Amino acid sequence: MQAHASAPGKIILCGEHAVVYGRPAIALPLSGIRARASVTSGAPGIGVRFDAPDLERRWLLSTAPNDPLSELTLATLQQLGIVETPDIQITITSDIPIASGMGSGAAIATAIVRALAAAFGQNLSAAEVSALVYESEQRYHGTPSGIDNTVIAYEQAIWFQRRSEPPHLIEPLPIATPFTLLIGDTGVRSATRLPVGEVRRRWQEDPACYEALFDQVAEIVHQARCALAEGDIAALGPLLDRNQELLEQIGVSSPELERLIAAARRAGAAGAKLSGGGWGGVMIALVDAETLAPVRDALLAAGAARVLETSVSATA
Ligand code: MEV
Repeated sequence: MQAHASAPGKIILCGEHAVVYGRPAIALPLSGIRARASVTSGAPGIGVRFDAPDLERRWLLSTAPNDPLSELTLATLQQLGIVETPDIQITITSDIPIASGMGSGAAIATAIVRALAAAFGQNLSAAEVSALVYESEQRYHGTPSGIDNTVIAYEQAIWFQRRSEPPHLIEPLPIATPFTLLIGDTGVRSATRLPVGEVRRRWQEDPACYEALFDQVAEIVHQARCALAEGDIAALGPLLDRNQELLEQIGVSSPELERLIAAARRAGAAGAKLSGGGWGGVMIALVDAETLAPVRDALLAAGAARVLETSVSATA
């Protein structure tokens, strides 16, 4: 037995956090950076063995059944109709920095689900993969909106809106003109569940204030959708800037993120904001052919641990 699968990273273009509270958000896959899983036959009687050298972890399902990836594997085997635990080795590798806002956890989970399905000769739809990964994220993160597992499973630009009951609204996003984003990594690791939990605490304390902030984010996300559909990339920059202001008010920015955002704007980025959970992780900057190099240099000079480039293609 030998099966391999992979899944991309992701970024949120706009609407993070508000999306947890039913507002729409736009997410993009990062096809160039991926998590990979392979499933091979294991030693008889050992059950499922996990080997994740990038995470510096190795464990057995039988000795860590409550590990989120062990639970995900059990749920996937159940969905595939495999009743007896097979003797397999699952090897996990990933280019996606963990706790960086780029969907590392959901991408690893997606790669595992796909590799297991392939190993047992079965096909799971993107919706089925996404649902299994969501269940796993829920156990780990508390109240995820579902946008990360969705954009990663479908691997296309999406418009996502959580409904109180599934199915959530998932639409491919029309993009009339390609554009380029630089992703600056603060190098500060921040597990998404922490800022998400803090926003929930603040929302519970002052629901009216937070609902109003989320409504303002939603308005920006609607405008961004129109700008992308019309190919009006010039309109997108100020919307990203405005989204950043609201994220600062929501309380999920950080000095490291703001240093990179300010450096990108000074070097000519048309707009910049944090992306994902915040408090660390990554920011994005909208650039063009002329500003790409100066903004990259400025991000590195301002202390970015790494800078990635992603070109977002027009949809047909
Ligand atoms: C994380 O990529 C996006 C957040 O909105 C959390 C979520 O939607 O689950 C911060």
